Amino acid sequence: MRVEMSGSKIARDLLAHYDVHARRLPWRAPPGANAADPYHVWLSEVMLQQTTVAAVGPYFEKFTLRWPTVLDLAASADADLMAAWAGLGYYARARNLLACARAVVADYGGRFPDTEDALRALPGLGAYTAAAVAAIAFGRRAVVVDANVERVVARLFAIATPLPAARPDIRAAADSITPDLRAGDFAQAMMDLGATICTARNPACGICPLRQDCAAVRTADPAAFPVKAPKKAKPHRLGHAWWIERSDGQVWLVRRPDKGLLGGMRALPSSDWNGAPDATPPFAAQWRTIDPPVAHVFTHFSLALSVHTTHVGLDHVPTDAGEWWPRDRIGEAGLPTLFARAADAVMKEMTDDARN
Ligand code: ADE
Repeated sequence: MRVEMSGSKIARDLLAHYDVHARRLPWRAPPGANAADPYHVWLSEVMLQQTTVAAVGPYFEKFTLRWPTVLDLAASADADLMAAWAGLGYYARARNLLACARAVVADYGGRFPDTEDALRALPGLGAYTAAAVAAIAFGRRAVVVDANVERVVARLFAIATPLPAARPDIRAAADSITPDLRAGDFAQAMMDLGATICTARNPACGICPLRQDCAAVRTADPAAFPVKAPKKAKPHRLGHAWWIERSDGQVWLVRRPDKGLLGGMRALPSSDWNGAPDATPPFAAQWRTIDPPVAHVFTHFSLALSVHTTHVGLDHVPTDAGEWWPRDRIGEAGLPTLFARAADAVMKEMTDDARN
């Protein structure tokens, strides 16, 4: 009973704060609307997984201009969507996005289903996104826990178990404070609190609307929550990429296999960097190596990519499948960040060479 009482007080305090301070974001309905465009909510939530609100903004605008409805998105060519997604990372999400849009069209005539269970059953739509769309777009009561919410809840309840073991407790605590009404506003208010006040480092407890309700603020170090298990160091890998430039200024690009890292994306030809990278170039030529290699951090490993360049004549016939792409328009190829940075490194070296 006490939990329920304080639970509803937390929701009340937080929603009152949200009514005044909600961040105005392009995919959001104003506080109290209790509904928002499901397509917008779904698209933004998928984009926001692991990417900041600031970084998502321009992508959200670009996508909704180009594909104003889920019907438009479902009808897009895979390659167009992958290229538009370039830079957001986690490319499997872009493929899932398309699979999900097509299922919404095929199974529901282009209208998202309005329950958490039916949403969860769509391809590529995970538990978090199902809860977020059910609550934010359809006003359903759903428990929405992302990293911001996790942090806020771990502090409110001073949950001392380290992550990830604490997740079930955090979820139960989040459930206990989620209101029956305005669960979508509540979820977004928790996210806003986590993003603006209850931040990972240096939380602004002095101005927090939940200060009275928070167990962590009464400890010596509120920022110590959520407690984290010590991190394992990421493995470091080496790889090689090949910049093959033809005398007419075109560069050879390939498409990565659908399965696996950066699947389905345009790329420079490169070595496999899963094990020992094969540094053998695709053909014998004079190769110049860009120094230093391009450093890039993926979720599970960091990579040093050595980029090797060569020039070929118009008669050069590549052995693998791919396409020639004008070097000056490489920015339009939709290269994922790793290869876009490799291309930048090559361009920079060429500019430096031209100057010297
Ligand atoms: N992060 C993930 N979803 C969000 C949302 N709806 N509002 C703000 N930040 C978010």
